[in-house]
Amino acid sequence: MDIIVVEGGQRLSGTVAISGAKNAALPILASALLTGGECTYTNVPDLQDIRSILLLLESLGATTSADGNTVTIDAANLAASEAPYDLVRKMRASILVLCPLVARLGYARVSLPGGCAIGARPINLHLKGLERLGASIEIRHGYVEARASRLKGADIYFDTVTVTGTENIMMAAALAEGTTVLRNAAREPEVVALADVLVQMGADIQGAGTSVVTIQGVSQLKPTRAEIIPDRIEAGTFMAAAALTGGDVTLTNCRPDHLSAVCDKLQQAGINLDPKGTTLRVTADRPIESVDVRTQTYPGFPTDMQAQFMVLMSCAQGQSIIKETIFENRFIHVSELRRLGADITVSGDTAVVRGVKALWGAPVMASDLRASASLVLAGLVAEGVTQINRVYHIDRGYERIEEKLRQIGASIRREKA
Ligand code: EPU
Repeated sequence: MDIIVVEGGQRLSGTVAISGAKNAALPILASALLTGGECTYTNVPDLQDIRSILLLLESLGATTSADGNTVTIDAANLAASEAPYDLVRKMRASILVLCPLVARLGYARVSLPGGCAIGARPINLHLKGLERLGASIEIRHGYVEARASRLKGADIYFDTVTVTGTENIMMAAALAEGTTVLRNAAREPEVVALADVLVQMGADIQGAGTSVVTIQGVSQLKPTRAEIIPDRIEAGTFMAAAALTGGDVTLTNCRPDHLSAVCDKLQQAGINLDPKGTTLRVTADRPIESVDVRTQTYPGFPTDMQAQFMVLMSCAQGQSIIKETIFENRFIHVSELRRLGADITVSGDTAVVRGVKALWGAPVMASDLRASASLVLAGLVAEGVTQINRVYHIDRGYERIEEKLRQIGASIRREKA
């Protein structure tokens, strides 16, 4: 198993290119199931989660090929309609094949994802939405079985804002008969990116990016070619790295407009930001100020940046309150950060972070994707060596992270444990 070894204390400077967004690519690759022809996607990040979804699409009978960051999928001849436990347990986003399969084939059998380290993460709203579109749903032997001869448009209200739930139902509604209205829909850029691709395929979708999305179903969709949007969370992670190390880093191929809440908090913390089109320069030339943060759905501060921001606040002057409102157990990184010298106490959904003069290196354990990113960030400023175990978590969502960090001056390497 690989480990990542970071020697802290290097100031980061230079340019780093942001990769395509994992959380936009996953639903978009799943949407290839909605059509019987060859779809091509560019700027697809080369990540474990992407390999997992391609494997799943192949197991359903699609042919796929990947050439660098270009992926081609042809789902003309689907031979199966089942997403097995072994694939779904490795990646919860596999649930994104449920609605495309039901819309295209009239039947799907998908393993229930179960909980994960950061929370219970039920899929009740995906199922409720699909049921409202006329599917009959049964849960048997740990699998969801959904059936519908032709889905029918409906008015669907989401009790909680759900990103993949909105995406799944949007895909089903694209091929349903009649009009679907999604209320309290997720407004994340990844939802808009999927809607844009569906529209290119011939879908009729209005309002994506707002909380009410209206979909006029069509009888078929055509193959398409699309570019995956830049990863706002990877960008935010590199912004935090630059800020922590008193650095001067320019991000290219990014979308500063998708990062306004993160930019706002970093500016309040005293970090200088200079966005120009698709580039963003981050410079830090004074002590970091404490800022309170509350995670929220988009356009609020993203839960996927909470762990990384906590590292920044651990190195700030004064005390910061961080409230996690999206997932019930997303503070697992706290005990590892404490091992590096951070002063953090947690009570329920709230963490109180008191800035310390210095962090020190130690062996730590990654527990999930963003937690592992936070440990890498902490390692960049910790005195001495930080050894991060279970880095397969980070490989799920960050393309060549150690190479990109090395390129801007970090002392970081991957080793076989
Ligand atoms: N929820 C329900 N019922 C549902 C669906 C969600 O109660 O049917 C709850 C969840 O338990 C959670 C909240 O609603 O408390 C929001 O969950 P959401 O469904 O929005 O999360 P998701 O779609 O499973 C996506 C990202 C996550 C990201 C969240 C929140 C993908 C593939 N995953 O997950 O990304 O944290 O939205 O923004 O898009 C990551 O990349 O590290 C990651 C975890």
